Amino acid sequence: MNIIGIAGSLRSGSFNSALLRAAVEECPAGSTLEIESIRGIPLYDGDVEAAQGIPARAAELKDRIASADGLLLVTPEYNNSIPGAFKNAIDWLTRPPADIGRVFKNRPVGLIGASPGAYGTVQAQSAWLPVFRTLGMRPWFGQLMYVGNAAKVFDASGKLVDEAMRTRLRNYVRGFTEFVAAEATQK
Ligand code: FNR
Repeated sequence: MNIIGIAGSLRSGSFNSALLRAAVEECPAGSTLEIESIRGIPLYDGDVEAAQGIPARAAELKDRIASADGLLLVTPEYNNSIPGAFKNAIDWLTRPPADIGRVFKNRPVGLIGASPGAYGTVQAQSAWLPVFRTLGMRPWFGQLMYVGNAAKVFDASGKLVDEAMRTRLRNYVRGFTEFVAAEATQK
């Protein structure tokens, strides 16, 4: 099983990037979780698309997702919703609409997120659901994974130091990987 993981932050000290790295550490044998990034994807502009087509970085990321068995999104939360930079990146990946089937449709998707606040991206994760529905994806709902109080869960180097949270993350990654494998055998 090959899963592509994308954290929706550009910040060097991102808690969500740290959470994705910790998820890679917990990926079970026989599966791979490869870290991808939203870096390099410009703001969506329909005029740019009409004149120049899809930016190279977006086209590359589309191909990587299309060839993977599953997608894990690691979302920050801004103003109780999806951060614009993350949504913008996904929006480019849905262009042209004729490619949505190849890139997203029926693709298993997992969703986790971290925030320094108490609620750990509850609202941002809810905000992703209509996006998954629109793209025809298959979200895994086997476990919720909200990482609140992130400044205590990760140390200054971005290492996940909360052992209870690590156990939750291990269970999430295992469960999601099993879901991805089960979906792949049904194809
Ligand atoms: C935030 N933050 C935030 N946190 C949260 O739990 N709920 C929220 O609604 C918001 N809103 C919000 C808006 C804006 C514009 C910013 C910049 C930040 C705080 C946010 O969770 C924090 O900056 C995280 O560290 C962002 O994720 P990364 O970059 O650490 O992955």
